[in-house]
Amino acid sequence: MTSKLIIALDFPNAHQAFDFVKLLSPNNCKLKVGFELFVAAGPDFVKRLVDQGFDVFLDLKFHDIPNTVAAACRRSANLGIWMMNVHASGGKKMLFAAVEALKEQDDAPLLIAVSVLTSMDDASLLDIGVKQTAQEQVLKLSIMSKACGLDGMVCSAQEAALLRQNLGAEFLLVTPGIRPKGTNQGDQLRIMTPELAMMAGSSYLVIGRPVTQANDPLRLIEQINMSLAL
Ligand code: C5P
Repeated sequence: MTSKLIIALDFPNAHQAFDFVKLLSPNNCKLKVGFELFVAAGPDFVKRLVDQGFDVFLDLKFHDIPNTVAAACRRSANLGIWMMNVHASGGKKMLFAAVEALKEQDDAPLLIAVSVLTSMDDASLLDIGVKQTAQEQVLKLSIMSKACGLDGMVCSAQEAALLRQNLGAEFLLVTPGIRPKGTNQGDQLRIMTPELAMMAGSSYLVIGRPVTQANDPLRLIEQINMSLAL
């Protein structure tokens, strides 16, 4: 069974990231490359991870006019990645353009959407003219993303049960803010253990610092994999 764990490679450069990746195997986790590392290390770094056999989630959250996002999706697919994402708030035309662009590709990556950033609450949504609550907005954007043909959403584990109920069993829910028992909460406000997040309906768990800063990252990854297999 392939691992449900996606490790966030939040490192400032390729050197540090590779030192860490050496400890891992494509059999026990997938990897997420976000803005910081992508800007520092670039597409060749992503290709090297793919060449090593890792499933890579390219977390660049594209949000632009449809034509530009479609082009960026094509270039991303050329890297051989497993999953990528866009912002659902880019609207239906942008989401359709991204889906259509990936349909033309061989071995296209999964495409998921970000709904409302977890750093935003009802008050910050009102600031940008959104009168719905964060939860209503997450549900609305998720239903729209599914209708546009996306494969799933990034969401907090707290939202997973609601989205699973409304979007069916096949739609992917990728949840950050995961903290195994006994690890540091860091700056994440709404956290859940891996086991509870899976029970709530998550498909994949994104976990960063608890693993990247662990004394024995491989052991922790194996413990989490075991706990999810039970
Ligand atoms: O270190 P930690 O486990 O908090 O890392 C979580 C990862 O998930 C980071 O790369 C962070 O950018 C990402 N993420 C998040 N919350 C979101 C979307 C992405 O924490 N809503």
